Amino acid sequence: MRSDQAKPVKLADYRVPDYRVLTVDLDVALHPTATRVVATLTVEPHPQGAAGAPLVFDGDELVLVSLALDGRPLAPEAHEATPDRLLIHRPPPGRFVLTIETRIDPQANTQLMGLYRSSGTWCTQCEAEGFRRITYFPDRPDVLAVYTTRIEADKAAAPVLLGNGNLVASGDLEGGRHFAVWHDPHPKPSYLFALVGGDLAVIADEFVTRSGRTVALRIYSEHGKENRTAYAMDALKRAMRWDEEVFGCEYDLDIFMIVAVSDFNMGAMENKGLNIFNDKYVLALPDTATDQDYAHIEAIIAHEYFHNWTGNRITCRDWFQLCLKEGLTVFRDQEFSSDMRSRAVKRIADVRLLKAQQFAEDAGPLAHPVRPEIYNEINNFYTATVYEKGAEVIRLLKVLIGAEAFRIGMDLYLSRHDGDAATIEDFVACFAEASGRDLGQFFLWYRQSGTPEVGVETRHDPKAGTFTLDIRQQLGPTPGQPSKEPMAIPLALGLIGPDGAERPLLTEEGQSVAGVIALSAGRHRFVFTGHPTRPVLSINRGFSAPVRLTTDLTESDLIFLSRHDSDPYNRWQSIQTLATRQLIAATTASRTGAAAPAGRPLIDALGAVLADSQRDPAFAAQALSLPSEADIARELGQEVDPDAIQAARLGLRRDIADHLADALAASLAALENRGPFSPDAASAGRRALANVVLDLWTANGADERIGLAERRFAAADNMTDRLGALATLAQHAGPRREAAFAAFYERHGADELIIDKWLALQAGIGEAGTLERVKALMARPGINFANPNRLRALVGSFAMINQTQFNRADGLGYDFLAEVVLDVDARNSQVAARLLSAFRSWRAMEPGRRALAQAALQRVAAAPRLSADVRDIADRSLA
Ligand code: TRP
Ligand code: ZN
Repeated sequence: MRSDQAKPVKLADYRVPDYRVLTVDLDVALHPTATRVVATLTVEPHPQGAAGAPLVFDGDELVLVSLALDGRPLAPEAHEATPDRLLIHRPPPGRFVLTIETRIDPQANTQLMGLYRSSGTWCTQCEAEGFRRITYFPDRPDVLAVYTTRIEADKAAAPVLLGNGNLVASGDLEGGRHFAVWHDPHPKPSYLFALVGGDLAVIADEFVTRSGRTVALRIYSEHGKENRTAYAMDALKRAMRWDEEVFGCEYDLDIFMIVAVSDFNMGAMENKGLNIFNDKYVLALPDTATDQDYAHIEAIIAHEYFHNWTGNRITCRDWFQLCLKEGLTVFRDQEFSSDMRSRAVKRIADVRLLKAQQFAEDAGPLAHPVRPEIYNEINNFYTATVYEKGAEVIRLLKVLIGAEAFRIGMDLYLSRHDGDAATIEDFVACFAEASGRDLGQFFLWYRQSGTPEVGVETRHDPKAGTFTLDIRQQLGPTPGQPSKEPMAIPLALGLIGPDGAERPLLTEEGQSVAGVIALSAGRHRFVFTGHPTRPVLSINRGFSAPVRLTTDLTESDLIFLSRHDSDPYNRWQSIQTLATRQLIAATTASRTGAAAPAGRPLIDALGAVLADSQRDPAFAAQALSLPSEADIARELGQEVDPDAIQAARLGLRRDIADHLADALAASLAALENRGPFSPDAASAGRRALANVVLDLWTANGADERIGLAERRFAAADNMTDRLGALATLAQHAGPRREAAFAAFYERHGADELIIDKWLALQAGIGEAGTLERVKALMARPGINFANPNRLRALVGSFAMINQTQFNRADGLGYDFLAEVVLDVDARNSQVAARLLSAFRSWRAMEPGRRALAQAALQRVAAAPRLSADVRDIADRSLA
């Protein structure tokens, strides 16, 4: 285990490497516990590096077997090899060949970084710093080399041998062994290296690129699961076509492979020509996967494929530039999904995720800029800020400079930097050039952490016919950043007349504003003319900027917008704002013992959504989904009492169930009898709506209503309906709930990915018994909690989603998480660190919980032999 505390890495300290590697020839003899790796590297001094410098390569838990320079063994006094470093004191001045032999134990590799085994399959994960666990190497993304990989294994254990690039040779060897040689002509950094060996099933297809080249497509999975990979293949082909059409990006090898493995630290990995996936993002059938799973699969298949250009052809100079590939590729996968499905619903789902994950991160001790400037452990920077806010910043850039300049800038970036290890400066320069604009202030989005607060005050002067907006922006202090500069904030907006018609946006100078105003200073005044009657302001349409917005919109304005705004995002947002205001008032009331405010206008607005829900069921499902307990906690921001939030939210749900009983029942009836299952977006929208309506309908706990949930659970012919009904039943304690959980296990208990859903639902129950239930599940034989997916489903859901039970007033939820983190850290430090980040909002709690959370974090920080990953999260959380 890695217990070393490396010193922090700083962006300002970047230097080119002293040595570069031109070619890498790997010869890997797979063995469960003693895999031999011979790396033959062509090395030369970097022209800008320090001449005559010693050669220092990275390692991690490596054992050096032999070392030769230009074919001659290197004298012991000429080098030093430790598990984490290889040093050659005086390398030759010109080009030379290093031959490094290491031995590694894939079976013992529980970190799932480097070469490891998952269900008997050998596979690799090298991003960010896993290649150094295979061989000594300058394991940094600005060292680009051409790789050739020879893999050798027992033919029976591993009939399938895969590497990056194209297959150039293969054959049988003595003693039941065989080999394959793969060559990747595209220079790449070590983090994109991959190999796979195993006994795998495969489905095959092909794709003809726009220039007429035929690309072989393969998806590998465990035997018996190949019937679940068809949807992923379909998504891949659509992604390949879309990237040609929308971004002009064409695939560049003869074969593209995806391998699904069950033990994986993250979602998936974009290794050149050989993507490796967490199998939950590949495998799907209607009876095993929900509509949401399908949407995730489509998005992640596309994401990894899109990395071929934004990440692989153009990679990152250093890990501070991670958002160069991740923010941009998330933006691209969001656009792809928007084109495949409903753009409005996709935007709403993305903003929900952004607020839930990124806003929470940005408001707490783990806040960091989209491009960090210092890190202790890069693994901890694969965050919502780098990914999701990184994508928002690109979306915002597009609004700021316009779609046309954005496209020109994108083309320029792809052509100018092809083959480079680039920086955010390189990227932004392309858009400055394309738009002819100074993007200096825009760049602050990459440098300043925290969520800007934007306050809007409006004034109507009927005599002058003017409508005035006074807008302020403010960005509070975040770790390492005590004071901030004003940001460039584009706000899409509209002014809507009482008749619901959009009014022209005319300034006092008689100029017409094309739907967007841009903030650059701390305060702005915008005066619009031609308004004898007061218009209603719709602002930050489409969530054009990732800010926290406060307006003086009244309750009736919000209701008006929920019905008449031409921007669907703001139709949704106005209902969320109404509900948030009401839930905050009710939370405060429940804490002070005052009477909860009447919620009639909100309930009427929800009623109107229901009445109109058949027109766009997927949208209605989003509009009817109340802010979560975590959403309310985030809006409150301090002195959070999760029990009060839960009480307020349950109270509102009960009111909805009672007051909208007829409308909910009618909607459920209208959604019945939909004929045979179909996975298309329209059918998925109806299923989503039915599940949301069922959940509201049963929220008053009435017996016969829960009976309907039971019937829907029993009758479901697909996972979306079955899980939706189970999620509803999960909220109503009693034998019927337990019977449903038992029936679900009975039916799906052999399927690990489905067990994850079962675990997550139970971990999310907001009742006092849940902690004991979670502990009992963890001890249950037959469920493998060494697998990251199992652990995340149970413990991750408990800590990240279950507000009242993780944040129990007695602190036992915190103690439990701390214990699990320490236990997991000994095996898989990345997964442990990620679980620990569930403490990220601890300072926002009321004093009692805050003290208990702090004590639990301190116990983690004080534990002996912490990994660098967990130490980093613990220290930053407490700082
Ligand atoms: N680059 C991967 C992506 O597509 C992220 C990733 C996958 C990763 N596996 C990892 C990052 C392991 C760190 C460690 O987003
Ligand atoms: Zn990515």
